[in-house]
Amino acid sequence: MLDLLLHRAQVATKLFSISKWLGMCNRAQLAHKYFTMNRLNKHDRVFVLTGAGVSAESGLPTFRGMNGLWRGYRVEDVATPEAFSADPVLVWQFYSERRQRHQTVVPNPAHYALAELERKLGDGFFLCTQNVDSLHEQAGSRRVLHMHGRIMQSRCSSPACTAAPFDDGNSYRTREEIPRCVACGALIRPHICWFGEVPFEMDLVLHQLGEATLVLVVGSSGVVEPAASFVRIARRGGARTVYVGPEVPANHGYFDEVLEGKAGEMLPSFVKLLLG
Ligand SMILES: NC(=O)c1ccc[n+]([C@@H]2O[C@H](COP(=O)([O-])OP(=O)(O)OC[C@H]3O[C@@H](n4cnc5c(N)ncnc54)[C@H](O)[C@@H]3O)[C@@H](O)[C@H]2O)c1
Ligand SMILES: [Zn+2]
Repeated sequence: MLDLLLHRAQVATKLFSISKWLGMCNRAQLAHKYFTMNRLNKHDRVFVLTGAGVSAESGLPTFRGMNGLWRGYRVEDVATPEAFSADPVLVWQFYSERRQRHQTVVPNPAHYALAELERKLGDGFFLCTQNVDSLHEQAGSRRVLHMHGRIMQSRCSSPACTAAPFDDGNSYRTREEIPRCVACGALIRPHICWFGEVPFEMDLVLHQLGEATLVLVVGSSGVVEPAASFVRIARRGGARTVYVGPEVPANHGYFDEVLEGKAGEMLPSFVKLLLG
């Protein structure tokens, strides 16, 4: 733990340009300063944004980890409303494979660390995930918003239909297998926010961002909008911003601190630090 504190304090040194002050500190003072700087108090509200990277160590590849390709198709060409209109079977084959994969994975230490943080903070914690998997819930998280939907849910494909999304872990590989909406007869589609569609519950997300004093982003490249802009919005509102992931994200300029490393290795210690 002391090593992590020291390492993080050195990172903080660079980011906060306080090298003069640090020159006067010894290692223990440095660690103590970083410790107290990070410890949450009862007024803090933590907003966490997770991306595909938080689930990478559970064995779910990021799109970039798949080289952005599935059977030679670009993921962006399969995950769109246009692709579904043109070839619903192909789109369902893509999601059916993913559904089967998702049924075999388990949470990693990063998911458990975030669940632990929520247990301690209660309503002072909010988790917005871009992921469609259920690994946060499996690890015990309860205050989770899936802004891009959930792989294990389906809904009617007609925008005019008011039928609610429903739990669905089935695979559909032929036209005949794809079910139709009981209310209007349109084809059923995955309950996923596709490229070109508006993510779910953005009003709630913006409200929570406005309340946050700490925004922690984990495993998100910072290029997929609107999630990439959350950190800028939160920072404008005065929140402290921290990133955790093995690569510096594209929107790194909006983070007070970038903790470089795998989420499963970094988050358990960082959460301990936050909880003091
Ligand atoms: N598990 C899932 O539900 C899942 C999987 C793939 C893609 N997606 C979604 O598709 C969209 C784009 O996907 P994308 O793959 O380009 O994701 P992305 O743009 O969020 O980028 C993935 C990020 O994860 C980081 N990363 C890789 N391994 C990591 C680790 N062990 N710990 C922490 N960070 C790590 C990478 O450096 C990269 O910055 C996003 O909405 C994403 O969440 C979801
Ligand atoms: Zn319908």
